[in-house]
Amino acid sequence: YSHLQTKRFGREIQYQNHTPSTQIIAHQWAKEDAPEGAVVIADEQGDGKGRLGRVWHSPPRTGIWMSLILRPPIALQSASHLTILTSVGIKRGIERVTGLDIQIKWPNDLLIVGKKVCGVLTEIRGEQDCIHYAIIGIGMNVNTKKQDFPKEILDIATSLTIELGGDIHRATLIAAVLEELEECYERYLQEGFQTIQQEWESSAYKMNQMITVRTPQGNHTGILKGLYDTGALKLQVDQGTIAIYSAEIDIEKY
Ligand code: BTN
Repeated sequence: YSHLQTKRFGREIQYQNHTPSTQIIAHQWAKEDAPEGAVVIADEQGDGKGRLGRVWHSPPRTGIWMSLILRPPIALQSASHLTILTSVGIKRGIERVTGLDIQIKWPNDLLIVGKKVCGVLTEIRGEQDCIHYAIIGIGMNVNTKKQDFPKEILDIATSLTIELGGDIHRATLIAAVLEELEECYERYLQEGFQTIQQEWESSAYKMNQMITVRTPQGNHTGILKGLYDTGALKLQVDQGTIAIYSAEIDIEKY
């Protein structure tokens, strides 16, 4: 990663050939002395974690399986901003390297023509009003071939190589993603959420269309109108607009 143009992101990297999950390693490291921006990257994960307790299929050397450690000086209620700015940064990184057009599906899926190419798992450790640290898990299907996907996700998943028709150098992509992520993160800390929000809205999947979102409180159907400044999703329903909070960010006591 000698060409990495970041100040902090990816300046310290723990690289693993094989690990159950980069999230677990990142949690351990964050509890010790990991500096902000430290990254855990694996070639293969035996027990990759998706959101809501799902499994994340992470075969050897085909994807980017990485976890970024952040120590954001923000309130716990703002945690969903982290997921949103992460989606925006990854989108920019992929677009810069591949030229593909990426849509963002709330809260944190990145899509190419409606199929998922990348997922984000945000795990926060904090208490009351303060975040001790955040682990941003990024799983990206890069050089995955059609036949490598489990059958049951073939219709909803894709990879960069499937869409481009050629393989991609993963280190180049990792560097681009880390650079864009750092830019988004610093802009957010300095200027607030507004420009991130605008970028998110301009690439939101199904913006101004009817969507249904699932939450533990039930399903909500309405027209997607963007985000509130809290990071909640803005849905237009018969009674006006409602805010849907992401039920999908895992927050635990430190
Ligand atoms: C999702 O459900 O969409 C989120 C998937 C996140 C997967 C990544 S791969 C790197 C990191 N380590 C894990 O075990 N999960 C995340």
